[in-house]
Amino acid sequence: MKLLKKLGIDLGTANSIVWESGKGIVLNEPTIVAVGIEDRKVLAVGNEAKKMLGKTPEYIEVVCPLEDGVIADYEVTEAMLRYFLRQVMGNNWFIGPEVMVCVPAGVTQVEQRAVLDATLSAGARKAYLIDEPLAAAIGAKIPVSEPFGNMIVDIGGGAAEAAVIALGGVVTHKSVKVGGQKLDRAIMDFLKKKYNLIIGEQTAELIKTKLGTAIKPKKVETMEINGRDSIYGLPKNMLVDNEMVYEALAPILEMIMTVIRDTLEITPPELVSDIVDRGIVLSGGTVQLKNFNALVTREIGVSAHVALEPQFCVIKGTGVAVENLEIYRRAIR
Ligand SMILES: Nc1ncnc2c1ncn2[C@@H]1O[C@H](COP(=O)(O)OP(=O)(O)OP(=O)(O)O)[C@@H](O)[C@H]1O
Ligand SMILES: [Mg+2]
Repeated sequence: MKLLKKLGIDLGTANSIVWESGKGIVLNEPTIVAVGIEDRKVLAVGNEAKKMLGKTPEYIEVVCPLEDGVIADYEVTEAMLRYFLRQVMGNNWFIGPEVMVCVPAGVTQVEQRAVLDATLSAGARKAYLIDEPLAAAIGAKIPVSEPFGNMIVDIGGGAAEAAVIALGGVVTHKSVKVGGQKLDRAIMDFLKKKYNLIIGEQTAELIKTKLGTAIKPKKVETMEINGRDSIYGLPKNMLVDNEMVYEALAPILEMIMTVIRDTLEITPPELVSDIVDRGIVLSGGTVQLKNFNALVTREIGVSAHVALEPQFCVIKGTGVAVENLEIYRRAIR
């Protein structure tokens, strides 16, 4: 048994993933915690807590401790990290693991400190931070150390971040607090406003993954949805189609296009010309939305492709970095 474990953690708004050096991904759970309202005691974490969403009695609260990619509830985040470490380390561990956590490139000093402190007090012996876009690029197998510009756009549950990487570091970046959860919310709002249909977040996410498309659909696809009528309050059943979903998502997707454009605008021209040659790489769970890469290619005018297993790019890159601390030393905080 190796005494010292090295772990990588992607603390995402929607999903938290843990990488163990030499093993790969060892844990992947929703970033959700159920706590007692009065004593703030943790009752369930991850999948168990997600099952409780929208169904809890009044003495239990289901909390998403990260918002828009940063810690919103420090105590709950720390408790969740401690739970994850216990899952991965087993019950009797004497020496805490070395942990690398990725953070969005735009986080403030205070937010960085919060992640480091939460990781250390959850039981880590040492904690390091790495820029999320760099981790995503490493995980997408982009040759990050070369003197060429590469653009990576990571879109998760809470945020979209575009960054240009060259010579092993982030050169320019911009982000917007728009991700998969805003897309879900847009579907909910659209159905409520136009059809008086109220649905929950999980149903909206299901509609998005089944019918969602970033480009105007040519063929109609439908899905039967059960919800509640916002006027009469009674159960209501409706056929939702991909045209409606496209219409609901389009304004949100446009905000993501703006972030990509704005990032290119502040990027030195030599690097922009590399990006035009090499294309844009997409990572994060939300880029799996149907035709998303086609929308980026059309709107930005640079060919865009989805990385292999896009939802795991960030954690793979974080894992590679924690296993090769020397190589990535300069990029680690
Ligand atoms: N096939 C799909 N189509 C569209 N969206 C999808 C699909 N599969 C997953 N998603 C969305 O991906 C999002 C989660 O992505 P990811 O796990 O990368 O987020 P995260 O890393 O937790 O969040 P962030 O990076 O913003 O903090 C969810 O909003 C989910 O609905
Ligand atoms: Mg993420």
